Amino acid sequence: MTNTISITDSLVPNPIPKSTIIRLENIFKIYGSGETEVKALDDVNLTIHKGEYCSIMGPSGSGKSTAMNIIGCLDRPTGGHYYLDNIDVAQMDDKSLAHIRNKKLGFVFQQFHLLPQLTALENVMLPMLYAGVNSKERSDRATEALTRVGLANRLNNKPTQLSGGQQQRVAIARAIVNRPVVLLADEPTGALDSRTTQEVLDIFGELNTSGITVVMVTHEPEVARQTQRIVWFRDGQVVHSNLTASDLSQLAVS
Ligand SMILES: Nc1ncnc2c1ncn2[C@@H]1O[C@H](COP(=O)(O)OP(=O)(O)OP(=O)(O)O)[C@@H](O)[C@H]1O
Ligand SMILES: [Mg+2]
Repeated sequence: MTNTISITDSLVPNPIPKSTIIRLENIFKIYGSGETEVKALDDVNLTIHKGEYCSIMGPSGSGKSTAMNIIGCLDRPTGGHYYLDNIDVAQMDDKSLAHIRNKKLGFVFQQFHLLPQLTALENVMLPMLYAGVNSKERSDRATEALTRVGLANRLNNKPTQLSGGQQQRVAIARAIVNRPVVLLADEPTGALDSRTTQEVLDIFGELNTSGITVVMVTHEPEVARQTQRIVWFRDGQVVHSNLTASDLSQLAVS
Protein backbone atom coordinates (compact mmCIF):
# COMPACT_ATOMS: atom_id res chain seq x y z
CA MET A 1 0.00 0.00 0.00
CA THR A 2 1.35 3.44 -0.87
CA ASN A 3 0.99 6.48 1.26
CA THR A 4 -0.61 9.10 -0.91
CA ILE A 5 -1.71 12.56 0.07
CA SER A 6 -5.23 13.20 -1.11
CA ILE A 7 -5.83 16.19 -3.34
CA THR A 8 -8.19 17.67 -0.81
CA ASP A 9 -5.58 17.41 1.94
CA SER A 10 -2.93 19.09 -0.11
CA LEU A 11 -5.27 21.94 -0.94
CA VAL A 12 -6.09 22.73 2.66
CA PRO A 13 -3.80 25.62 3.55
CA ASN A 14 -1.97 25.39 6.83
CA PRO A 15 -3.39 28.00 9.14
CA ILE A 16 -0.81 30.76 9.51
CA PRO A 17 0.14 30.76 13.18
CA LYS A 18 -0.24 34.14 14.81
CA SER A 19 3.07 34.96 16.42
CA THR A 20 3.11 36.57 19.81
CA ILE A 21 5.16 39.73 20.13
CA ILE A 22 4.14 40.87 23.64
CA ARG A 23 3.21 38.56 26.50
CA LEU A 24 2.66 39.85 30.02
CA GLU A 25 2.33 37.03 32.55
CA ASN A 26 1.17 37.76 36.11
CA ILE A 27 2.66 41.24 36.04
CA PHE A 28 2.61 43.27 39.25
CA LYS A 29 3.88 46.80 39.77
CA ILE A 30 3.81 47.99 43.36
CA TYR A 31 4.81 51.48 44.42
CA GLY A 32 5.63 52.32 48.02
CA SER A 33 5.03 50.01 50.98
CA GLY A 34 2.80 49.65 54.01
CA GLU A 35 0.15 52.36 54.28
CA THR A 36 1.29 54.09 51.10
CA GLU A 37 1.46 50.94 48.96
CA VAL A 38 -0.15 51.30 45.52
CA LYS A 39 -0.71 48.25 43.34
CA ALA A 40 -0.47 50.05 40.00
CA LEU A 41 -0.59 46.67 38.20
CA ASP A 42 -2.27 43.80 39.95
CA ASP A 43 -1.71 40.48 38.14
CA VAL A 44 -1.91 41.61 34.53
CA ASN A 45 -1.98 39.02 31.78
CA LEU A 46 -2.01 40.21 28.20
CA THR A 47 -0.93 38.81 24.84
CA ILE A 48 -0.51 40.91 21.71
CA HIS A 49 0.27 39.33 18.35
CA LYS A 50 2.54 40.64 15.62
CA GLY A 51 0.69 43.01 13.33
CA GLU A 52 -2.12 43.93 15.71
CA TYR A 53 -3.45 47.48 16.06
CA CYS A 54 -4.57 47.75 19.63
CA SER A 55 -5.72 50.47 21.98
CA ILE A 56 -5.68 50.54 25.76
CA MET A 57 -8.46 52.36 27.59
CA GLY A 58 -9.67 52.68 31.17
CA PRO A 59 -10.18 55.28 33.90
CA SER A 60 -7.46 57.62 35.09
CA GLY A 61 -5.13 55.82 37.50
CA SER A 62 -6.09 52.35 36.24
CA GLY A 63 -2.50 51.45 35.27
CA LYS A 64 -2.40 52.16 31.54
CA SER A 65 0.80 54.21 31.55
CA THR A 66 2.44 51.89 34.05
CA ALA A 67 1.70 48.97 31.73
CA MET A 68 2.91 50.90 28.68
CA ASN A 69 6.16 51.83 30.43
CA ILE A 70 6.78 48.18 31.22
CA ILE A 71 5.83 47.07 27.70
CA GLY A 72 8.13 49.81 26.37
CA CYS A 73 11.05 48.62 28.55
CA LEU A 74 11.15 52.03 30.23
CA ASP A 75 10.39 50.41 33.57
CA ARG A 76 10.50 46.97 35.19
CA PRO A 77 7.65 45.15 36.94
CA THR A 78 7.82 44.24 40.63
CA GLY A 79 6.85 40.69 39.71
CA GLY A 80 5.89 38.49 36.79
CA HIS A 81 7.27 37.76 33.36
CA TYR A 82 7.30 39.97 30.29
CA TYR A 83 8.19 38.20 27.07
CA LEU A 84 9.03 40.61 24.26
CA ASP A 85 9.55 38.70 21.04
CA ASN A 86 9.95 35.56 23.20
CA ILE A 87 12.66 37.00 25.44
CA ASP A 88 11.88 37.53 29.13
CA VAL A 89 12.91 41.13 29.67
CA ALA A 90 11.18 41.61 33.06
CA GLN A 91 14.33 41.70 35.15
CA MET A 92 16.94 42.79 32.60
CA ASP A 93 19.42 45.45 33.67
CA ASP A 94 19.17 49.02 32.41
CA LYS A 95 21.77 48.59 29.70
CA SER A 96 20.14 45.49 28.20
CA LEU A 97 16.71 47.14 28.38
CA ALA A 98 18.02 50.22 26.57
CA HIS A 99 19.48 47.97 23.88
CA ILE A 100 16.21 46.05 23.36
CA ARG A 101 14.25 49.31 23.37
CA ASN A 102 16.47 50.79 20.69
CA LYS A 103 16.27 47.68 18.50
CA LYS A 104 12.65 46.65 18.80
CA LEU A 105 10.50 49.51 20.07
CA GLY A 106 9.39 52.98 19.10
CA PHE A 107 7.68 55.24 21.64
CA VAL A 108 5.41 58.27 21.14
CA PHE A 109 4.18 60.37 24.07
CA GLN A 110 1.44 62.95 24.51
CA GLN A 111 4.00 65.73 24.96
CA PHE A 112 6.18 65.07 21.88
CA HIS A 113 9.47 65.25 23.88
CA LEU A 114 11.50 66.73 21.03
CA LEU A 115 14.78 68.46 21.75
CA PRO A 116 14.07 72.18 21.15
CA GLN A 117 17.56 73.13 20.02
CA LEU A 118 17.61 70.51 17.25
CA THR A 119 15.90 70.55 13.85
CA ALA A 120 13.28 67.97 12.88
CA LEU A 121 15.93 66.07 10.94
CA GLU A 122 18.39 66.12 13.84
CA ASN A 123 15.72 64.98 16.30
CA VAL A 124 14.89 62.02 14.08
CA MET A 125 18.57 61.17 13.55
CA LEU A 126 19.20 60.82 17.31
CA PRO A 127 18.05 57.23 17.93
CA MET A 128 20.34 56.06 15.14
CA LEU A 129 23.28 57.75 16.81
CA TYR A 130 22.75 55.46 19.81
CA ALA A 131 22.36 52.52 17.39
CA GLY A 132 25.75 53.29 15.81
CA VAL A 133 24.53 54.07 12.26
CA ASN A 134 26.91 56.20 10.15
CA SER A 135 26.08 59.84 9.49
CA LYS A 136 25.10 59.55 5.79
CA GLU A 137 22.72 56.71 6.54
CA ARG A 138 21.36 58.56 9.59
CA SER A 139 20.51 61.53 7.44
CA ASP A 140 19.02 59.41 4.62
CA ARG A 141 16.88 57.33 6.94
CA ALA A 142 15.69 60.34 8.94
CA THR A 143 14.70 62.08 5.71
CA GLU A 144 12.85 58.96 4.61
CA ALA A 145 10.99 58.70 7.95
CA LEU A 146 10.03 62.39 7.90
CA THR A 147 8.84 62.00 4.30
CA ARG A 148 6.73 59.05 5.39
CA VAL A 149 4.90 61.24 7.91
CA GLY A 150 4.42 64.05 5.37
CA LEU A 151 7.16 66.39 6.58
CA ALA A 152 9.66 66.30 3.71
CA ASN A 153 9.39 70.09 3.50
CA ARG A 154 10.05 70.69 7.21
CA LEU A 155 13.39 68.91 7.71
CA ASN A 156 15.26 71.96 8.95
CA ASN A 157 12.57 73.48 11.15
CA LYS A 158 12.99 73.48 14.92
CA PRO A 159 10.09 72.27 17.08
CA THR A 160 8.95 75.83 17.96
CA GLN A 161 8.53 76.49 14.23
CA LEU A 162 6.14 73.55 13.87
CA SER A 163 2.47 73.08 14.83
CA GLY A 164 1.52 70.55 17.52
CA GLY A 165 0.44 68.03 14.89
CA GLN A 166 3.68 68.49 12.96
CA GLN A 167 5.71 68.06 16.16
CA GLN A 168 3.88 64.83 16.89
CA ARG A 169 4.65 63.65 13.36
CA VAL A 170 8.35 64.36 13.96
CA ALA A 171 8.06 62.29 17.15
CA ILE A 172 6.47 59.47 15.13
CA ALA A 173 9.25 59.66 12.54
CA ARG A 174 11.78 59.43 15.38
CA ALA A 175 9.93 56.42 16.81
CA ILE A 176 9.98 54.49 13.51
CA VAL A 177 13.41 55.40 12.21
CA ASN A 178 15.09 52.33 13.75
CA ARG A 179 12.40 50.15 12.13
CA PRO A 180 10.79 48.89 15.33
CA VAL A 181 8.62 45.79 15.51
CA VAL A 182 6.27 47.58 17.91
CA LEU A 183 5.17 51.20 18.06
CA LEU A 184 3.89 52.24 21.50
CA ALA A 185 2.00 55.47 22.03
CA ASP A 186 0.71 56.87 25.34
CA GLU A 187 -2.14 59.29 24.58
CA PRO A 188 -0.48 60.46 21.35
CA THR A 189 -3.49 62.56 20.37
CA GLY A 190 -4.22 63.90 23.86
CA ALA A 191 -2.77 67.32 23.04
CA LEU A 192 -4.13 67.56 19.48
CA ASP A 193 -7.33 68.92 17.93
CA SER A 194 -9.65 66.56 16.07
CA ARG A 195 -8.30 67.23 12.57
CA THR A 196 -4.70 66.73 13.62
CA THR A 197 -5.74 63.68 15.66
CA GLN A 198 -7.04 62.14 12.45
CA GLU A 199 -3.77 62.88 10.63
CA VAL A 200 -1.85 61.05 13.34
CA LEU A 201 -4.29 58.12 13.27
CA ASP A 202 -3.98 57.90 9.48
CA ILE A 203 -0.21 57.58 9.89
CA PHE A 204 -0.61 54.90 12.58
CA GLY A 205 -3.02 53.05 10.27
CA GLU A 206 -0.50 53.14 7.41
CA LEU A 207 2.34 52.00 9.67
CA ASN A 208 0.19 49.12 10.92
CA THR A 209 -0.70 48.14 7.35
CA SER A 210 3.02 48.06 6.57
CA GLY A 211 3.44 45.45 9.34
CA ILE A 212 4.26 47.38 12.51
CA THR A 213 2.38 46.31 15.65
CA VAL A 214 0.77 49.43 17.14
CA VAL A 215 -0.33 49.73 20.79
CA MET A 216 -1.84 53.04 21.89
CA VAL A 217 -3.32 54.35 25.14
CA THR A 218 -6.24 56.68 24.62
CA HIS A 219 -9.10 58.26 26.56
CA GLU A 220 -11.01 59.03 23.38
CA PRO A 221 -13.54 56.40 22.21
CA GLU A 222 -13.46 57.85 18.67
CA VAL A 223 -9.70 57.17 18.59
CA ALA A 224 -10.01 53.64 20.05
CA ARG A 225 -12.75 52.82 17.51
CA GLN A 226 -10.21 53.13 14.70
CA THR A 227 -8.10 50.30 16.13
CA GLN A 228 -8.82 46.58 15.75
CA ARG A 229 -8.82 45.63 19.40
CA ILE A 230 -9.48 47.47 22.63
CA VAL A 231 -8.03 46.39 25.99
CA TRP A 232 -9.74 47.83 29.06
CA PHE A 233 -7.94 48.44 32.37
CA ARG A 234 -9.53 48.99 35.76
CA ASP A 235 -7.79 49.13 39.17
CA GLY A 236 -4.51 47.79 37.78
CA GLN A 237 -6.14 44.85 36.02
CA VAL A 238 -7.15 43.98 32.48
CA VAL A 239 -10.91 43.60 32.74
CA HIS A 240 -11.59 43.25 29.00
CA SER A 241 -8.81 42.13 26.69
CA ASN A 242 -10.52 42.03 23.34
CA LEU A 243 -13.27 44.58 22.81
CA THR A 244 -14.22 45.79 19.35
CA ALA A 245 -15.43 49.22 18.27
CA SER A 246 -19.03 48.02 18.37
CA ASP A 247 -18.61 46.61 21.90
CA LEU A 248 -17.51 50.07 22.89
CA SER A 249 -20.69 51.59 21.52
CA GLN A 250 -22.92 48.99 23.16
CA LEU A 251 -21.23 48.76 26.52
CA ALA A 252 -21.18 51.40 29.11
CA VAL A 253 -17.75 49.92 29.80
CA SER A 254 -16.89 50.15 33.44
N1 LIG B 1 6.02 56.73 40.37
C1 LIG B 1 4.90 56.44 41.06
N2 LIG B 1 4.90 56.40 42.41
C2 LIG B 1 3.78 56.07 43.09
N3 LIG B 1 2.60 55.78 42.52
C3 LIG B 1 2.54 55.83 41.18
C4 LIG B 1 3.68 56.17 40.37
N4 LIG B 1 3.32 56.13 39.07
C5 LIG B 1 2.02 55.80 39.06
N5 LIG B 1 1.55 55.61 40.32
C6 LIG B 1 0.18 55.22 40.71
O1 LIG B 1 -0.13 54.03 40.00
C7 LIG B 1 -1.49 54.04 39.57
C8 LIG B 1 -1.54 53.86 38.05
O2 LIG B 1 -1.00 55.01 37.42
P1 LIG B 1 -0.91 55.19 35.83
O3 LIG B 1 -0.11 56.40 35.58
O4 LIG B 1 -0.44 53.91 35.26
O5 LIG B 1 -2.44 55.39 35.46
P2 LIG B 1 -3.09 55.73 34.02
O6 LIG B 1 -4.13 54.67 33.78
O7 LIG B 1 -2.04 55.92 33.00
O8 LIG B 1 -3.85 57.10 34.34
P3 LIG B 1 -4.11 58.38 33.37
O9 LIG B 1 -5.28 58.00 32.51
O10 LIG B 1 -4.47 59.47 34.34
O11 LIG B 1 -2.86 58.67 32.60
C9 LIG B 1 -2.08 55.35 40.06
O12 LIG B 1 -2.74 55.10 41.28
C10 LIG B 1 -0.85 56.22 40.28
O13 LIG B 1 -1.10 57.17 41.26
MG1 LIG C 1 -1.43 57.57 31.85
